[in-house]
Amino acid sequence: MPLNEPVLTKRIPTWPWSDPKGRHIVGYDEFVSTGGYRALDKALSMQPQEIVQLVKDANLRGRGGAGFSAGLKWTFLPPVDGGRRYLCINCDEAEPGTFKDRLLVDFDPHQVLEGIAIACFACQLDTAYFFIRGEYHHQAKVMLKAIEEAYAKGVFGKQGLLQGKSKFAVECHLHRSAGAYICGEETGLLEAIEGKRGWPRIKPPFPAVKGLFGRPTIINNVETLAAVAPIVEHGLAWWKQLGCESGIGGAPSYGPKLMGVSGHVTRPGVYECDLGIPLSTLVNTHCLGMRHGKKFKGAIAGGVSMGILGPDQFDAPMDFDIGRRCDVLGLGTACPTVFDEDTDMVAVARNIARFFKNESCGQCTPCREGAGWIYKLISRIENYDATSKDLDLLLEIATSMGLTPGTTICGLADGNNFAIRTIVSKYRSEFEARVKRVSIPVTLASSRG
Ligand SMILES: Cc1cc2nc3c(=O)[nH]c(=O)nc-3n(C[C@H](O)[C@H](O)[C@H](O)COP(=O)(O)O)c2cc1C
Ligand code: SF4
Repeated sequence: MPLNEPVLTKRIPTWPWSDPKGRHIVGYDEFVSTGGYRALDKALSMQPQEIVQLVKDANLRGRGGAGFSAGLKWTFLPPVDGGRRYLCINCDEAEPGTFKDRLLVDFDPHQVLEGIAIACFACQLDTAYFFIRGEYHHQAKVMLKAIEEAYAKGVFGKQGLLQGKSKFAVECHLHRSAGAYICGEETGLLEAIEGKRGWPRIKPPFPAVKGLFGRPTIINNVETLAAVAPIVEHGLAWWKQLGCESGIGGAPSYGPKLMGVSGHVTRPGVYECDLGIPLSTLVNTHCLGMRHGKKFKGAIAGGVSMGILGPDQFDAPMDFDIGRRCDVLGLGTACPTVFDEDTDMVAVARNIARFFKNESCGQCTPCREGAGWIYKLISRIENYDATSKDLDLLLEIATSMGLTPGTTICGLADGNNFAIRTIVSKYRSEFEARVKRVSIPVTLASSRG
């Protein structure tokens, strides 16, 4: 069920984009002429609490990975006490295979800024920090220019939001990450903005109560905030027509979602779809099928941290229930990397294990040591230099690390746990063939990285 009318990307002209040099960035004037900042205008005539309630009722689930309700998170803030309160916008986007926030910033930065302004007003947050991935040089320039334009046009600044329509004034700054995956974890991000090493903090206290510089802070993903303006502008009934109900008794997955598809498909790209679209439809319709007509073998669900969808899960609905339905951690960023029949899944596991080994910040022993051991063991298996005991040991290490078993400070270790565990369990025969030192009919070179 592709969207009839793009919601988040309606002002992005070339879709999917094919020529990066021909890109067209929507500036302030064009944004306003196509209805931009109308939702902010409407929001400023509402009570802040009303907006929070609206976003909560819309069940806008966080698009950064965890799928937590944005409106509910906003209610965790303590009452205003006259001190600073912050909004941190997470555009770290370092999850392998994920490139959807980048598109919003690249082409339509004011769509994000409008969401930021509404969220700040709703939650009475006076300072926003747009935290952007270090490697996003071009996007940082685009966003900085858009922020400057927004100041010049009176959206932000001392006069109050939207040329003083509200007395509530918001400052907006851009902060470039030094470039580590862990700085995308919300409390690692706070440390990074404070100028420290991006080490995640132990929670509680949660950032809503004690966040940036010890003050109340909301952290939301870029795409989550981009969805706020359409909700305010068009209302609940409209929003709930998009996406899907749970189907298995969980919270609904309303709204559109940007899905960035990479890997062995004919036309990789970012597609805006209703939540709940089956992966097979996404691949066959939008991405024009598997590359060279090969068979589907599996897909990383939505960033490597989520684990893998197996060969029999091609029709998995891409909604926030996918974790419970398909034995993966969750929908994550909804950016799948697709693998065809020639892929060596042991090499895929080794590649992912290397990523987590390199990116562990080292604070927690199970993650720091476990990630290194997982990488060593998988490398041994890949090189036909392991016994079946090593395979058991690999699973034991993977399952004992993370927030879920309660052994680490942050969820990076759960990502490692799920990625490795699901690959081993769904493609076990390939691993067993390696420990028994038997060759298997796959193209080893195809997925070495
Ligand atoms: C290791 C790690 C990396 C993360 N990286 C990102 C990221 O790049 N962008 C993001 O929005 N969220 C990332 N998250 C999730 C954030 O911690 C946080 O949940 C999210 O920014 C909240 O925004 P949302 O509720 O709007 O999704 C990461 C989490 C972990 C554990
Ligand atoms: S789980 Fe890993 S990345 Fe997260 S704080 Fe602990 S050591 Fe650092």
